[in-house]
Amino acid sequence: MPYDRTPHDRRRIQEKLGEMRERQTLEAVEHIIEFNQTPAELKSAMDRFVIGQERGKKVLATAIAFHYRRLGTALKQALAEDGGDVDAALRRARTPKANILIVGPTGCGKTYTSEVASGLVGVPFIVEDLTKFSEVGYVGQNTSDILVDLLITAGGNYQVAQMGMVYLDEIDKVATELVLQRDVSGKGVQKGLLKMVEGQENTVELGRERLTLSTKHVLFIAGGVFEKLETVVKSRLSRQGQQGKWREHLLTEDFVAAGMERQLMGRFPVRVTYELLSTEDLVDILSKSEDSPLLAYSNDFRAWGIELKFSAEALKEVARRAKKEGIGARGLISILHRVLLEDMFRLPGSHTGELVVDENYVRERLR
Ligand SMILES: Nc1ncnc2c1ncn2[C@@H]1O[C@H](COP(=O)(O)OP(=O)(O)O)[C@@H](O)[C@H]1O
Ligand SMILES: [Mg+2]
Repeated sequence: MPYDRTPHDRRRIQEKLGEMRERQTLEAVEHIIEFNQTPAELKSAMDRFVIGQERGKKVLATAIAFHYRRLGTALKQALAEDGGDVDAALRRARTPKANILIVGPTGCGKTYTSEVASGLVGVPFIVEDLTKFSEVGYVGQNTSDILVDLLITAGGNYQVAQMGMVYLDEIDKVATELVLQRDVSGKGVQKGLLKMVEGQENTVELGRERLTLSTKHVLFIAGGVFEKLETVVKSRLSRQGQQGKWREHLLTEDFVAAGMERQLMGRFPVRVTYELLSTEDLVDILSKSEDSPLLAYSNDFRAWGIELKFSAEALKEVARRAKKEGIGARGLISILHRVLLEDMFRLPGSHTGELVVDENYVRERLR
């Protein structure tokens, strides 16, 4: 016989859960209120992890620091006026929100920068791949599924979720014409996104439960490669007799020409383009980033008593080979794996001490 809970027990559990949620919320709110990093401080913390993309980091650090500082100030004020009622404060707080759009090649740090920044601020963060919305079979699916994920990441606490960040990956994949080829209405998907991005009140379905989640304070960052954009902007520039780098002349109409809805793009007023990572950047990612993939391998080997040592030339060779893969920093992981596979298999248990990898060694392994 399972232990039967009396109504009294059940009420007590409910009360405890309620108290826990309240505590979580208060901690999260206090955390935001205490947030006081300047954009420059936030950027220099990001520099420890994200290599290059100086302009990108600057734009993101500024937008994010201002957003949370603003939210903190508004919450503080609203809480004072509403006598500590967080729901009322969240509803009342005004934060003219500046969602961010990042355009740039694959593997150059769009998602990563956002993730690092959210971690530094200390708010819930989710990455949603929008490709799934452009696939056949996703017709009629609800963009509010995204909010379910946010809620889960926030530990089921809808107040904490409202202070989080959402990264919309591959937003270019819901461009109208791309999606139309697959016989799904891209317009419909974009309308759904628009509603969510600006949404005061979004209905979220959790099994049989229905919740209302406001995204008024949720910071959205969208990223995409936007392959067509270069041609679009260049031809517009030449039509207008203008010169210069296309990346510095992005207008809303260019995104519209590339199949995006004007209104949706209007919700992403902060725009920045990311650069292709150079071979030197890739070397720096290996040797300087605080969570470089090489560091991860070094730690793995150290656990077996093996000191992994890459020569400077070896790092360069790995970076050169990764660069050729054309998938940005993602190439580093696959190249490193190929270089180290044999040793990862062979050495643990049979060797302790140094494992020195030089340029020739890399070449041999990649033959
Ligand atoms: N600029 C960078 N500095 C350090 N690491 C990077 C950088 N760009 C990419 N990476 C590494 O490559 C991985 C993939 O990058 P990601 O941000 O997902 O690319 P994308 O631009 O396609 O979103 C990251 O998880 C990170 O480990
Ligand atoms: Mg990405």
